[in-house]
Amino acid sequence: MKGVGKDLPSFLFRPVSYRQPFLTVLDQTRLPARIRFVRLRSAEEVAEAIRRLKVRGAPWIGVAAGYGLAVEAWRLTDRQLRTGMKRAARMLLASRPTAVNLAWAVERVMQRLKGTCLSPEALRLSVEKEARKIEQEEIERSIAMARQGARLVPKGATILTICNSGALAGPGMGTALGVIFQAHLEGKRPRVFVCETRPLFQGARLTTLELLRARIPCTLIPDSAAASVIEKCDLVLVGADRIARNGDTANKVGTKMLALLAKEAGRPFYVVAPSSSFDPRARTGADIEIEERPADEVIRCGRSRVAPDKVRVFNPAFDITPAQLITAFITDKGVVKRL
Ligand code: MRU
Repeated sequence: MKGVGKDLPSFLFRPVSYRQPFLTVLDQTRLPARIRFVRLRSAEEVAEAIRRLKVRGAPWIGVAAGYGLAVEAWRLTDRQLRTGMKRAARMLLASRPTAVNLAWAVERVMQRLKGTCLSPEALRLSVEKEARKIEQEEIERSIAMARQGARLVPKGATILTICNSGALAGPGMGTALGVIFQAHLEGKRPRVFVCETRPLFQGARLTTLELLRARIPCTLIPDSAAASVIEKCDLVLVGADRIARNGDTANKVGTKMLALLAKEAGRPFYVVAPSSSFDPRARTGADIEIEERPADEVIRCGRSRVAPDKVRVFNPAFDITPAQLITAFITDKGVVKRL
């Protein structure tokens, strides 16, 4: 698996990198205005960066949490190691509730500490190795998904997407945007309508930035213009934060609206997600916890107030698209019509 991702196109961002004793992340809250990298020196700092969306997107959240444990393992003394790691795992798990990749990665790394009689030094190396392995595997998955998905993109297709699902959201090519990158690399000349993705503008700030770097033509739209452009689109591509056993899918709020529009307009609606986003413990979407974020994100737009301070706000970060609205799942293992 060594060298995986070495040949990835140069237009892709690499927003997270681990080099003992810290994790360096591109602060996505500052994009596109500023390219600012921050160094995280403890699991607590990594959890805070995830909570504040400096690192975001389901696969990167999982990978960053894995590295958060590695950073912590090197920070703790030999005596603190086992109890300290359990505390760190709890803290990371509590940082954001919806993307299952987080729990999946934390559980995988913590397995390395179970019942072994390794020295503290060997344990630290083992934790670090697992975290790196998770990132490498996610890169491989992203390449596999991109190739699978590009087959479903007709030449000259116009694609509708929401939020950010590119290299800023997941290692390697990302998820839904990875399919678009691959179609572009194959000379299919895709064009993209990008929903701005209120309230934090991941579409406007991040997706357009990634598409412009790749020289893929894109048009930014207000979320509320999705119904006005759906007839001009050939397909809808979105990522996922968690997929239940029956195929119900949690993704950025607004995704369900796109699925309903696609159904009405008779357009295929694809969810692009690695196997780390499938949650065998969730039977249906009702078992998925939806993160609710602060009212201030809706009351303000940047520094300006756009609503009275005291208004009641509902600000869910994600919604659940029912399985029956999803044409197929594009995964690293293949294209799946029904789960
Ligand atoms: O709140 P965010 O920016 O972390 O939300 C991200 C998304 O909803 C993505 O679509 C999702 O993580 C899947 S794409 C990797």
